[in-house]
Amino acid sequence: MEAHGGNLEATARRLGCRPDQILDASASLAPFALPRAARRALRQVDLRAYPDRSQWRLRQQIALLHQLAPEAVLPGNGAAELFTWAARDAASSGVSLLPQPGFADYGRSLQCWGGQQRSWSLPLEWDQAFPQPFPAASAAEVFWITNPHNPTGQLWSRESLEPLLARHRLVICDEAFLSLVPGGEQQSLIPLVAEHSNLVVIRSLTKLYGIAGVRLGYAVAQPERLQRWAQWRDPWPINAWAGALADALLRDPRDYARWCARVQRWVVEEGGWLQRRLRDLPGIRPYPSAVNYLLLRAEQGSLQPLREALEQRHRILVRDCRSFAGLGESWLRIGLQDRAGNRRLLRALGAELLQ
Ligand SMILES: Cc1ncc(COP(=O)(O)O)c(C=O)c1O
Repeated sequence: MEAHGGNLEATARRLGCRPDQILDASASLAPFALPRAARRALRQVDLRAYPDRSQWRLRQQIALLHQLAPEAVLPGNGAAELFTWAARDAASSGVSLLPQPGFADYGRSLQCWGGQQRSWSLPLEWDQAFPQPFPAASAAEVFWITNPHNPTGQLWSRESLEPLLARHRLVICDEAFLSLVPGGEQQSLIPLVAEHSNLVVIRSLTKLYGIAGVRLGYAVAQPERLQRWAQWRDPWPINAWAGALADALLRDPRDYARWCARVQRWVVEEGGWLQRRLRDLPGIRPYPSAVNYLLLRAEQGSLQPLREALEQRHRILVRDCRSFAGLGESWLRIGLQDRAGNRRLLRALGAELLQ
C-alpha cells in the first residue's frame, strides 16, 4: 500500500516529539488553510439527520464545475472508495493493465473482486516539457491511467490518451491531482465521457484543499454505470461533515476557480524554486514534475540513509519509494511545502549532503 503521511502520530511517538513538530513531505497536499466560510460550515453541521442519499445538491455543484449533467457525477468517500467500484467493473471486463511505478490502490481495489492485473513499466527518463505523450503500452482489456502520474509527476496529453478509448474495453483515468496542475484541465478526459461509455474519470478534493481526513472525491462516467455503482455501495458514503464542507467549497464555481488558480500559482512558483535549489545539491538528481511532488534519485547508491537522517535528525518525512514497483532504494518522493517548509527541507538536505 501507498505509505501515506497518515502515520504522523506513530512517527511522533517514535521520534519523541509532537506531531506538529514534524514536517510531513511524504504526503502531497496543498498547504493553504481552508476558507473561513468552509470552517464555519463545519461548525454548523446537523449531526442528527441522515445525509441526503441522492447527494443531489453536491452532484449539481460538481456538474457545474465541469459543464456536465448531475447524473454523470457520483461523489464518493474519497477517490479511494470509487476505485473500488471502478475495479468491480474492471474485474468483470478482463485483465487490467497497471502502469508501474504507480499508485498501489488500484491493485488493492482489483483484489477486492479477484480482478486479474498485469503491470507494464513506464520509461524512467523524461524531460521538462509538459504535457507529454503517453508511452505506448501492450494490450489488455482494461487500462488504468494516472494523470498527472504518481509518483513521477508527469502530465499526459489528452491527445495521446484519447486513442486508448478505441483500444480498451474500459479506461479508468485517475485525475486526483489534475486540478493542481497549471494548464492541467486542458488535458482532462472529462469532456470525452459523454461520447465514451467505456470511460471513467476519478477526481479527488483531498490534494487540492488539503483535506485528506475528510474523504471527498467523485467519479465522472455515463449515468447507467454510476447508477449501478450507487446500488452496490453503502447508503450514506458522504457523511454530514464532508457534505457540508463540499457545499461550502463548491457552491460558487468562481470560488473553486480562484482556489485552483492559487494552488497552481504555488505549484509554479514554489515548485520551480525548489527544483532549482535541489539541482545545486550534490548526490541527488531531482526529476521534472508538473505537479506538487517530485522524485529524487541518488547519483549512486541508496537514498535510505538520507531518508532516515531526515526523519531522525530533522523530523522531516519524505516518501520512501521502495514500495513502488520499478523504483527502489535509490529513489525518494517529496511533496512541495510552503516557502518556510521548503526552506526547512533544503536546510536539512544541505546539512546531510554537503558534509
Ligand atoms: C494518484 C492518487 N489517486 C488517488 C489518491 C487517493 O485520493 P483520496 O484521498 O481522494 O482517496 C491518491 C492518494 O494518495 C493518489 O496518490
